[in-house]
Amino acid sequence: MFKYALLALALVGAIMAHTISKRQAVDWNDPVALGEAIVAMFNGQLSFPQYNPDSLPTTKFDCSQQQHAGYYADPEMECQVFHVCNQELGIQSTFICPNMTVFSQYYLTCMWAPAVDCQASSRYYALNANLFQGPNLDYWGNTVPNQILASPNKK
Ligand SMILES: *[C@@H]1O[C@H](CO)[C@@H](O)[C@H](O)[C@H]1NC(C)=O
Repeated sequence: MFKYALLALALVGAIMAHTISKRQAVDWNDPVALGEAIVAMFNGQLSFPQYNPDSLPTTKFDCSQQQHAGYYADPEMECQVFHVCNQELGIQSTFICPNMTVFSQYYLTCMWAPAVDCQASSRYYALNANLFQGPNLDYWGNTVPNQILASPNKK
């Protein structure tokens, strides 16, 4: 009997682990998995951060501890919240992604929450060093030709 109880416990643990990993690691390039995760969020089967912009908790994130101006996901708020650091003016501005989305430090935009590995955010903070380095360097550090930065308004 005890053996079965243990087995059941292990099974529940495995399912929970699956749910938790699903929350953070659906492949953005897998439309079926991503679609399922989005449906699960709407069905209430998959949780997502739901911070209220009018009552955000305090955070330890501090632009003055960052070397580079740029965009920073805040893992303390499950990445639904991100900060823009202006080092020259010493200004920290805080933004919130719409519910069901969180800020991807890698893609630098709000994306469906299950597709973002929030805990990995700080690994990509250093990419901010590539911002504001002129028209030939993209965020990921690649040298790019000028033409892809041509005005989108030009016919
Ligand atoms: C997310 O939903 C919660 C609960 O409805 C709400 O309090 C909060 O303001 C929402 N957050 C955003 C960013 O819309």
